[in-house]
Amino acid sequence: MVIITSGSPSKTLAWKVAQKLNATYLDTEVKRFPDGETYLRFLGKVEKEDVIVVQSLGHQPNHYLVELFLMLDALKDLQAKQVTAVLPYFAYARQDERFKSGEAVSLKTVSRLVEAAGADNIFTIDSHRHRVVDQDDLTTVPLQDLTAMAELAKYMNSKYDLHNPAVIGPDAEAGAWAKIAADAISVEYDALEKKRFDAETVEIKPRRLDIEGRDILIVDDIISTGNTIIKAIDVLKKNGAKDIYVACTHPLLVLNALVRIYQAGAIEVVGTDTVQSAISNVSVAPVIANAIKKMK
Ligand code: R5P
Repeated sequence: MVIITSGSPSKTLAWKVAQKLNATYLDTEVKRFPDGETYLRFLGKVEKEDVIVVQSLGHQPNHYLVELFLMLDALKDLQAKQVTAVLPYFAYARQDERFKSGEAVSLKTVSRLVEAAGADNIFTIDSHRHRVVDQDDLTTVPLQDLTAMAELAKYMNSKYDLHNPAVIGPDAEAGAWAKIAADAISVEYDALEKKRFDAETVEIKPRRLDIEGRDILIVDDIISTGNTIIKAIDVLKKNGAKDIYVACTHPLLVLNALVRIYQAGAIEVVGTDTVQSAISNVSVAPVIANAIKKMK
């Protein structure tokens, strides 16, 4: 039997994954003590079972990490068989390198702690670890990054009659995600590139494609403040784009990011349910369920 469980941030997503796999959903009781400590209890037996913990780390990463560590360690202690951590939004991944001397590389620290707490397998989705060439540098247990880009592209493509569309990543790093999204709907892709001519003159434009008169789908991993997407919309409009649509895997949407993106001219902004938001209209449950099926 496979058991799917979750702490406080991802119960609905965990339940959806359980439905897709015809697996058992096991609820947890999670409480915060007045001093800020966390209490966690599994509301059923896990002994000798394979257990999948679905725990996204958006918005309150520190609280959710403590919940995760309590779950993973307790599962080992309670004699669960194989413990898999599915971390749809993996916080702390953007610091994937020591950019300034003395900095903590939070991606490495958190990855190691997840393994040390008891994960035998780890899955993430569209994780921002661009500068990590070898996953073995992060953990000794298997660590696999899944993607929701195809699902996001299909959502927009089926909802709108897109005119000669292209998928664009707002920076070079997002180019790989743009390719996955574009391949899913058989269109061209590109990424925006910054060219500096001198100290004052910087030009940002698509690396290869002429986008004049074309509908554009911008894709990125995260929308946080929205500044990256707003800048991209501005550049694409200046380069003659027609209608602009936006998709991201992790809609953190801090402050009034969503309103500002719509004000910048996006027709629709869509995200997934790795982080619950007003635009979480695409579920990653099928992506997670497929990966778990292949694991068995
Ligand atoms: C950065 O490299 C990421 O891929 C995202 O583009 C970034 O995190 C988005 O942040 P914001 O919405 O604050 O611009």
